[in-house]
Amino acid sequence: MCGIVAYLGDKQAYPILIKGLQRLEYRGYDSAGVALIDDELLLYKKQGKVADLEEYLKDKNVKGNIGIAHTRWATHGEPSDINAHPHFSRSKKLAIIHNGIIENYCTLKKELFKRGYTFQSETDTEVLIHLIEDIQINENVELLEAVRIALNQVVGAYAIVIIAKDNPNQLIVARKGSPLVIGVGEKEFFVASDATPIVEHTTNVVYLNEEEIAVLNRNGDIKLINIKNQKKTPYIEKLELNLHEIEKDGYAHFMLKEIHEQPRSIRDTMRGRINSSRNILSLGGITDYERRLINAKRIIIVACGTSWHAGLVGEYLFEDLARIPVEVEYASEFRYRNPIINEDDVVIAISQSGETADTLAAIELAKSKGATIIGICNVVGSSIARATHAGSYTHAGPEIGVASTKAFTAQVTILTMMALMISFKKGVITKSKYHQLLGEIELIPEKVEKVLKTENKIKGIAEEFINSRNFLYLGRGYNFPVALEGALKLKEISYIHAEGYPAAEMKHGPIALIDAEMPVVVVATKKGIYEKVISNIMEVKARKGKIIAVVTEGDVAVKALADYIIEIPETEELLVPLVATIPLQLLSYYIAVMRGCDVDKPRNLAKSVTVE
Ligand code: G6P
Repeated sequence: MCGIVAYLGDKQAYPILIKGLQRLEYRGYDSAGVALIDDELLLYKKQGKVADLEEYLKDKNVKGNIGIAHTRWATHGEPSDINAHPHFSRSKKLAIIHNGIIENYCTLKKELFKRGYTFQSETDTEVLIHLIEDIQINENVELLEAVRIALNQVVGAYAIVIIAKDNPNQLIVARKGSPLVIGVGEKEFFVASDATPIVEHTTNVVYLNEEEIAVLNRNGDIKLINIKNQKKTPYIEKLELNLHEIEKDGYAHFMLKEIHEQPRSIRDTMRGRINSSRNILSLGGITDYERRLINAKRIIIVACGTSWHAGLVGEYLFEDLARIPVEVEYASEFRYRNPIINEDDVVIAISQSGETADTLAAIELAKSKGATIIGICNVVGSSIARATHAGSYTHAGPEIGVASTKAFTAQVTILTMMALMISFKKGVITKSKYHQLLGEIELIPEKVEKVLKTENKIKGIAEEFINSRNFLYLGRGYNFPVALEGALKLKEISYIHAEGYPAAEMKHGPIALIDAEMPVVVVATKKGIYEKVISNIMEVKARKGKIIAVVTEGDVAVKALADYIIEIPETEELLVPLVATIPLQLLSYYIAVMRGCDVDKPRNLAKSVTVE
């Protein structure tokens, strides 16, 4: 939520800031702004996307070799020019950008109000910059000290950057609960919410830790303290990120690129971890905690959104293969409902971004009760990855499209490997079954490649449904989470109402909605409860619903009933989600594109939800 970028150095800041904002636009895109120092402290902001800000600034003075910029996902106050960041202090000598939420902003605002402050915007951020300036003046302290004192009064989450008109040689940055990376160049600094705006300038980075404040000076010095005023040493790390990973590479959208990357990303998830010819399956990141999983009385999976759907597949996998009871929880519910957590529970937290506020809070709660926490994250070094005891990175590469695609299949790949490894080490599956499944997992990328070749057919089906107002997605067993994920994808990017249901539950409600106008996507792959799914299809047909069926290659029975067929290669039942999800991603993508929707930046959504 919200993207922040800042620059200090010899170059012109504006082009660096704008490009950085474009890279971070997946984090929020309802308004954007920039502040630069060119003798004066110049501040411009605009409701709309980064491109709208760029257009607005075409004929403005955007000079200066120090600046801060922001792209917003509204929390406090509607999207508007005024609520956009940066925000000025009262004297207009300081400007701030902020990602996060100051939870006690009302109390702080009341105090400042009593002291005669007025507020231009409805944001919590403006309160913070007034507070900082108030402390600076009344306590007669340097800006750094004022920031430190103010942050000690703040409850909530923040990643902030502040510039001061009177000191164009310094940036002050701080973070708690929201991500922030500092790129360290030759006497220049880049600051951003993640490394994507930084990688083309430098691969040397410092990740700020919780409650740390850094002062970045034009002479190349970094001063690092925490909010308790303890001195810290900046630790410079090397970025492992390639520029081409964060560009569209000729695809119309990041989402399409990421859908097509899945054969590669699934291979990358398995790389170095699985080798069927040598019967090897190892997840190095959890080796020290394997016993905890093997002996777990219960696994609790916590996640949000698409990651929660991956968690549901995980439930089927762990119960089916490893015979360990699993509960899958929405992190936001789990954290507030006084859950029962025991020391022999293992909590698996799944998060693409590794920054989702609810998932992070659920982890902290489970940790405080003594449970073992294992993370499945995509973003290396993210807050969730650091908060867990151990974990496995998905290695899917940066996911920029707001609707998650390759991260989902990577999460399911990790869960599959984890469940299989634990089941074998626990002795609940035979060696030959283990060996056979290892071989089948290795074939998944090829099968995904094959599904991607049916893209044109799926595009043709999409064309038939661009004016639909509702969609139903049905699946049973392992295909139930696939149906949920298919429905979520469609509603996220096309704004068509879609619901996922376990196929048999249809008769307990959704069947009332079925008529000739209702498309029903049925994931009806062979094995499992295929015959029963056929009965569900008949029930839809009897009410004139239109069936789009995802079936196993060579299927005859469903083909005879369905209006549209998408074939996928046969695989083991427990691996079907990895293959069956792909056509549903493509179907949503093409329906959304044909409806003229911005698939990479769907309205109201953000990729990284760092507020609760
Ligand atoms: C947002 C994104 C979703 C994502 C969810 C959880 O809603 O738009 O695509 O599934 O957050 O995010 P996480 O990073 O924790 O997987």
